[in-house]
Amino acid sequence: MEREAFTEALLRVMEAKEHWAWSHFTRGRVRRELLHIHLEQEYATYVRDFPVLVARAYVACPIAAVRRDLIENVFEEETGRLGAGRPHPELFLEYPRGLGMDLTRFERVELLPGAAQYRAYLDECTIHGGWDVAAAVTTLFLEGTKFDRGELSEGAPKRPVPPLTEHPLVMHYGLPVEALALTRAHRSVEGGHRAAAWRSILDHVLEPVRQAAVVGAMQGALREWLRYRDDVATACGIVRERDRD
Ligand SMILES: [Fe+2]
Repeated sequence: MEREAFTEALLRVMEAKEHWAWSHFTRGRVRRELLHIHLEQEYATYVRDFPVLVARAYVACPIAAVRRDLIENVFEEETGRLGAGRPHPELFLEYPRGLGMDLTRFERVELLPGAAQYRAYLDECTIHGGWDVAAAVTTLFLEGTKFDRGELSEGAPKRPVPPLTEHPLVMHYGLPVEALALTRAHRSVEGGHRAAAWRSILDHVLEPVRQAAVVGAMQGALREWLRYRDDVATACGIVRERDRD
């Protein structure tokens, strides 16, 4: 594939990373007493182990320049010493802490069926997929958003950055703004990571067979993620409009 076609295939996946139930979370329509399910499932599917998932790509990668970017990402995620100040998985727990949730629940999360399947898929990609699949699924799919085109081209819409006081958890669930340390950290450190992540894949995955493997893995991640989010929506009591009555 030419670079442009490869980029486009990957961006299509990212642009489809949007789940029908998300607006229920951002508009405060999820019942407060069920919100912990969403945070627990996010934590246990990928947030807690994100540094390890990226590290698997690092270990498998034969390209020194790419390894440097990957290990920098791992180091920041695992320690926060390049920017956030604390390990990112720990900072994530400031959300449930700030919301007054029982944090011991996060030590023994039972994954919903779709969540377990999604996690198994992430493990498969990062353990057996090769460095390129592992790096794409973690640094592009997991860390990226539907606004990733904006990371690559000037003219494309950028990911919106509303003031932290307008964060849905603050507006609808009374989270103190100080508990948004992870959101703040991501805004400051991860701009550079996004660009580096795209560069690693686009500059170094050149063989058609590997490009196809990467695109296929990204499409698979999207499929599994959508199923996982369906299960979270159901567990959080969200009913899809068209399924009502
Ligand atoms: Fe992070």
